[in-house]
Amino acid sequence: MGRTTPDPPVSAVRYHDLTSHVRHRISPHSLDFSRYPAPFKTYEYQRRILLKQENSTSRKDRGENLAVGGLKDTVGSAMSDQVTGNEPVGLETVSRILSLSYGVTLADRSRGILFRSVPSAGGLYPGQLYLSVQKTDDIETGLYYCDTVQGFLGRINPRPLDQTIVFPGCAAADACMVITGIFYHSAWKYRERAFRYLLLDAGHLAEAVVQASRATGVQARICYDFDDHGLVQALDLDAGLEVPLACVFLGSGTGAAPLPDSIAFQPAVDTPTSRDPVVYDILSQAYQTGTPIAATPPVKNIPPVFSGTPEQQRPVPVPGRFPAVAFERAVTGRRSRRNFVTRELPAPVWSALLNRVFNKMFIDHDPDETGSAAASFVVTAMISQNMQGLTPGLYVISRDGAGLTRLKTGHLAGDLARVCLDQSWIGRAAVNFLMAADLGAVEAALGARGYRYVMMHAGRIGHRVYMAAQELGMGCCGIGAMYDGEAADLLGLTSGSRLLYAVSAGPVK
Ligand SMILES: Cc1cc2nc3c(=O)[nH]c(=O)nc-3n(C[C@H](O)[C@H](O)[C@H](O)COP(=O)(O)O)c2cc1C
Repeated sequence: MGRTTPDPPVSAVRYHDLTSHVRHRISPHSLDFSRYPAPFKTYEYQRRILLKQENSTSRKDRGENLAVGGLKDTVGSAMSDQVTGNEPVGLETVSRILSLSYGVTLADRSRGILFRSVPSAGGLYPGQLYLSVQKTDDIETGLYYCDTVQGFLGRINPRPLDQTIVFPGCAAADACMVITGIFYHSAWKYRERAFRYLLLDAGHLAEAVVQASRATGVQARICYDFDDHGLVQALDLDAGLEVPLACVFLGSGTGAAPLPDSIAFQPAVDTPTSRDPVVYDILSQAYQTGTPIAATPPVKNIPPVFSGTPEQQRPVPVPGRFPAVAFERAVTGRRSRRNFVTRELPAPVWSALLNRVFNKMFIDHDPDETGSAAASFVVTAMISQNMQGLTPGLYVISRDGAGLTRLKTGHLAGDLARVCLDQSWIGRAAVNFLMAADLGAVEAALGARGYRYVMMHAGRIGHRVYMAAQELGMGCCGIGAMYDGEAADLLGLTSGSRLLYAVSAGPVK
């Protein structure tokens, strides 16, 4: 079943605007549960390798993750350490990384939903993971679909990705995790707006893979730039249905050797879903428009995203020291919590939250190779209330999370709730993070692909908020639903700027 757009988007900005929500103009849509997206893909696998897991269904039912134990790292270090891991990429480390980044952490049997370690808009998990293994001790070279629900790597091609072709100019790695998105998984609920959610979800997942790799001691580097066509072919995807969005290189690549021609390209048969996906052409058009990779320019003179005259920047108080929370525990305990209460957040806690989210993310520590250009365009602000020592208002957060610049004074969280499709819980959150960018400037500098970068970047920041909030005992929930024009007006965004994503955090019941 197909739905064409009468006027296809010629740019990413146009896609974003065409899919804006306007109050009273959201067309009614009933969810068709007979077409509910399947939680994993199926292939006629050439080989299956079981992931190393503690095989206990009862733990899964209790909402505990199946990651194997022994992880010493804490959330803070997984989020912000320099990439120094020297653990080899092998079945044990890959099993940990997959379990911690995309494992099932809660099974809701009554509704038939398997919740994962990452949040996902609508709980629809459009992201799929593939692992290309170049050279490891105990995983045979090849290309695998990562079935983190059933717990195995399924070989779908004996030939791994040819890194020099698909990722020209990138340093070699031992293995590469590819994150794709299936349009329909998200479009089932969000229709034409689904490409936004695919990108935000992919950003969450990329950050989760990086954090899980660090906690496991494996080097990880995000890469958003690849030959889309080559990757679609190598993964044998139907680009009208599923597209590559991000990659994470794993390991140091010290043992990587050129791929011998003797390994045949022999894709496994992908069993199509019997649930007959509805195809929204605008989604693949929005993806296709971003396939060219622009030369990354030196980014100068980024236009302001928020209008008005900012006050002088003030320093964020010194972050408090809190007992470290084991990474595995934080991952398994993470959930979207919306039951916010209006209780004051002590200054050492909120400053620790900012510190954990932003410290070392952008300043010379960003593992995302394209991030330095894209990150400069993403401005994070917050609407605060009940934060000890801070007048309620709208503040821009400096890139390192150490400075705040006030733009507006007042209790604005209720207004934000109103423009975010009247989701009233947003009005009670102590802090609402707001990721915004001037999409016109992004597209002018980085081409239409720049939209992918900034949306995934916003998703990465969102994931860091979730994990930091979890570590500090706060609730957190992403917000992708908003009346876009009303949100821009409320925040005083400049004409080309748009709110990409918002995330609420704060004390919960
Ligand atoms: C990109 C994104 C957008 C989201 N938008 C909303 C939203 O607007 N409202 C909401 O209540 N939850 C939202 N969520 C939270 C999801 O509903 C939640 O992650 C999902 O149901 C899975 O539950 P869990 O996070 O507890 O694992 C969003 C999550 C993501 C990642």
